Amino acid sequence: MRKPIIAGNWKMNKTHQEAVAFMEEVRGNVPSKNEVETVVCAPALFLKDMHDKAESSDVAVGAQTMHFEEGGAFTGEISPAALQDMGIAYSIIGHSERREMFNETDESVNKKVHAAFRHEITPIMCCGETLEERESSQTEQVVRTQIEKGFAGLSAEQAKQVVVAYEPIWAIGTGKSSSAEDANETCQTIRQVIAELYDEQTAEAVRIQYGGSVKPENINSYLAQEHIDGALVGGASLKTDAFLQLAEAGK
Ligand code: G3H
Repeated sequence: MRKPIIAGNWKMNKTHQEAVAFMEEVRGNVPSKNEVETVVCAPALFLKDMHDKAESSDVAVGAQTMHFEEGGAFTGEISPAALQDMGIAYSIIGHSERREMFNETDESVNKKVHAAFRHEITPIMCCGETLEERESSQTEQVVRTQIEKGFAGLSAEQAKQVVVAYEPIWAIGTGKSSSAEDANETCQTIRQVIAELYDEQTAEAVRIQYGGSVKPENINSYLAQEHIDGALVGGASLKTDAFLQLAEAGK
């Protein structure tokens, strides 16, 4: 039985004050982490104070990206060691916005996934196709390649701990969510690829989130699908009431 994981991705939103106030409001109201993992992925600047505010509650804090190197001349980047030192246990890796705007590739994504494991950080590894790729029936091939390259060199034990976020790029921030059935079909493909790379048992253990215009009104239809184990939510994760409803849906 896979434990659902609901993660918010705030992207470049909120001030420090708003971020800390958000944690104060949600920390006592999220469902038990024994039932559902709840994570807020916030701008790096706020992570430490949000983490402190969460204390030992059931909501965790995650980064939105990190570098794969331990440290050095990488102006503006965030090291995995610094995240680990602050107690940050999750990081989104390879979000499509980072792939598109910040030149991330399957190779750098793979290096980051390995770096995450070196620092006890759970990677939330994103994949997904563009509208053009979907319309030319390339979805399966695109996610297959992203999974094969993203998982390269991971042991089965590590693979089981990766959270995959399937986000069709055309559904992100557009209000045009994928149908739950279509999303499930691609998530099934992702699981199949993992089974081919490892084995059925490993594939069955991996949690796969759907992301792309998820909100309280539609989350249940995704979570009802066999191969969808959670959601990565952008816009709708910014408000405390919606975030709590999304977390509650994961129960
Ligand atoms: O990481 C989250 C996704 O990019 C989805 O964003 O829920 O605003 O469509 P959205």
